[in-house]
Amino acid sequence: MRLITIDDYNSKTMQLARPVFDKHKRVLLAAGRSIHPTYLEKLKQMDIHYLFIEDAVSFGITMDEVLDMPTWIDAIGVIQQASQSIEKKQEFPIREIQKLAGRIVEETIKRKAIVLIPTSYLEEELRLYAHSVNVALLTIQLAKMRTLTPVQLRDLAVGALLHDIGKAITKDYEQHPSAGFDFLRKHREVSLLSAHVCYQHHERFDGKGFPRGLKEEQVHEFAQICAIANGYENALSKDKMAPHQAIEWMMTKNGSEFSLELVQLFVQGVPMYTPGSRVVLNNGRAAIVTKVVANLQRPIVRYLDNQEEVSLSDNHTLLIAEVIKNEGSAQ
Ligand SMILES: [Fe+2]
Ligand SMILES: [Fe+2]
Repeated sequence: MRLITIDDYNSKTMQLARPVFDKHKRVLLAAGRSIHPTYLEKLKQMDIHYLFIEDAVSFGITMDEVLDMPTWIDAIGVIQQASQSIEKKQEFPIREIQKLAGRIVEETIKRKAIVLIPTSYLEEELRLYAHSVNVALLTIQLAKMRTLTPVQLRDLAVGALLHDIGKAITKDYEQHPSAGFDFLRKHREVSLLSAHVCYQHHERFDGKGFPRGLKEEQVHEFAQICAIANGYENALSKDKMAPHQAIEWMMTKNGSEFSLELVQLFVQGVPMYTPGSRVVLNNGRAAIVTKVVANLQRPIVRYLDNQEEVSLSDNHTLLIAEVIKNEGSAQ
């Protein structure tokens, strides 16, 4: 299985590997078949940008680093429900959020690495909620490299899941962290720590963030972790960068938006080259990344010409020289 942009889809050689959903989170196209051109047009009109596909090149790649679809879609539904409960002045589903936070921690702990599904896999209406789920997954991926207690991890996941909840309260972008904080403080079940993750997620290391312009260690470490996860998620989903470009972009922000220490943690904890990426090595041969191993930046790849697998962790002179972005769909 691999993730491609919809423009690279070729109905002659590719089958859908994971379902496509509509804005009501219903399955629009089931996995296991090729997409009819009429449907492909429809998906493009819906602004769906990515597809998981299976083809001869992706054979045997399992992408265990990606959350399974039902879990991801359910999680998005919980965040959507939480947002809508504010708009409709209904009871805030805090129990559901806490349960989801536990699930996020569990799903992240059991994986070596988390590879995110960009939110533009879905229709616009669901993207903000999917963004929050992705930020929570990434926040916990980073936090698990610290020695935190299970309670801290869960509180951090609650904070990350709700970091943008203020957007359901105010239309003023600069106000959403404080609006979210004030709202969460009214709920006894939400810890002060979770509320602060929301309050401080737009503060920056250099003090140029908002709402209070706090800097360096004035910003709680958990909020700094959420902020860096938020930055990466936006680079990946909103700006549609490839994972390696998003990480390179994060590295340019070290010392300004984020601390050097956190950027280093990020580079250790988030793979640049995700399974299914097509690459060219420094020996000039084209390959596909098949598996992420303990050294996340040195995965196992398979040559496209003779199908031979090589581990970049065991072959230190071999490097990924280039990631092939647009393969172009030969119709
Ligand atoms: Fe935000
Ligand atoms: Fe955000």
